[in-house]
Amino acid sequence: MSTTTASTQKSEKTIKRPTTAGKPQEIQNSFYGDFKMTHQRPNVNDRRIINGEEGDVVQLSPIKHKFAWDAYKAGNANHWLPEEISMQKDIELWKSKDLTDNERRAIEMTMGFFTTADSIVANNLVLAIYKHITSPECRMYLLRQAFEEAVHTHSYQYIVESVGLDESKIFNMYREIESIYKKDMFAVSLTEGILNPEFTTSTPEGRQKFMENLIIFYVITEGIFFYSSFAMMLSFQRQNKMVGTAEQFQYIMRDESMHMNFGIDMINAIKEENPDLWTPEFQKKVISMVREGVELEIEYGEDVIPDGILGLNKDGIREYVQHIADRRVERLGLKPIYGSPNPYPWMSEAIDLGKEKNFFETRVTEYQVGGTLEW
Ligand SMILES: [Fe+2]
Ligand SMILES: [Fe+2]
Repeated sequence: MSTTTASTQKSEKTIKRPTTAGKPQEIQNSFYGDFKMTHQRPNVNDRRIINGEEGDVVQLSPIKHKFAWDAYKAGNANHWLPEEISMQKDIELWKSKDLTDNERRAIEMTMGFFTTADSIVANNLVLAIYKHITSPECRMYLLRQAFEEAVHTHSYQYIVESVGLDESKIFNMYREIESIYKKDMFAVSLTEGILNPEFTTSTPEGRQKFMENLIIFYVITEGIFFYSSFAMMLSFQRQNKMVGTAEQFQYIMRDESMHMNFGIDMINAIKEENPDLWTPEFQKKVISMVREGVELEIEYGEDVIPDGILGLNKDGIREYVQHIADRRVERLGLKPIYGSPNPYPWMSEAIDLGKEKNFFETRVTEYQVGGTLEW
């Protein structure tokens, strides 16, 4: 508006903005670093994933962190919505006598974990991490991921509502069931430090704390805590049970696999940009966090299927969780911890080895834009 032009004044370099009284006031403490008028263009080599405000956090191109841009585009190509999937067969099955009590318990526990887990991840992304990421292309992916977490929470709500599960029981399970509560607490405790207004990535301690958060959320929560439930949902599908719910989880698994891969790429890029962070002590800490996460996931998996169902049992879950944890730490450049074999090779085919493309070709969506997907 012309009033803005007329009332906005400019000093030599610093942008001034009108106050309510029309008096110019310098912008301070903005998220844009040194926000001044200048013809000096940023050098993309100054762009860093954290602690890189001097690289300019809003100029997307030229892109430096290509993995993030690729992930953003792949995420867009995978767009889906829960209501596109029919839940009719699940509704009929849930009402019938063709599910055992243990199978019902497993479904309810799984929904009990997931109905709130994706919101915890989304809150960490938006309220804790985003502010401290200084690569515009990484921020683009975080925005895509945050939307996908909303779609996942929508999906769980849709499953609970359409199947007719007890909403208050399911949604409050994260406070009532100890094995779920402990997993969530493990993650949330790492959000706390980052949410502190005084938190900064300008110190080595702050950067290590930030890395811990990324590892807890991308490697342990999204890379380990989701996987015994994913194995269970795929087992239902292999027996042609709860097929609508299982199909929702197929799409969620595909998204989560991308979230984890993006997260690990981002962690590895931060390591390269901040070689002082990845000390032997810090690596030990990472291993001990992964070990703790693995034990929490095994405890949860055993709680979900205490007597074994659908070809899964406690020993298998333990081996499987240890096996995938080894794959995650290897991607961080660390030695495997457990050396456990994979008891569920069909899960590898579906998730770890990127063969899931065929898996999803049973259903063509209007959002699929080309066959370039690698994940
Ligand atoms: Fe999610
Ligand atoms: Fe996720």
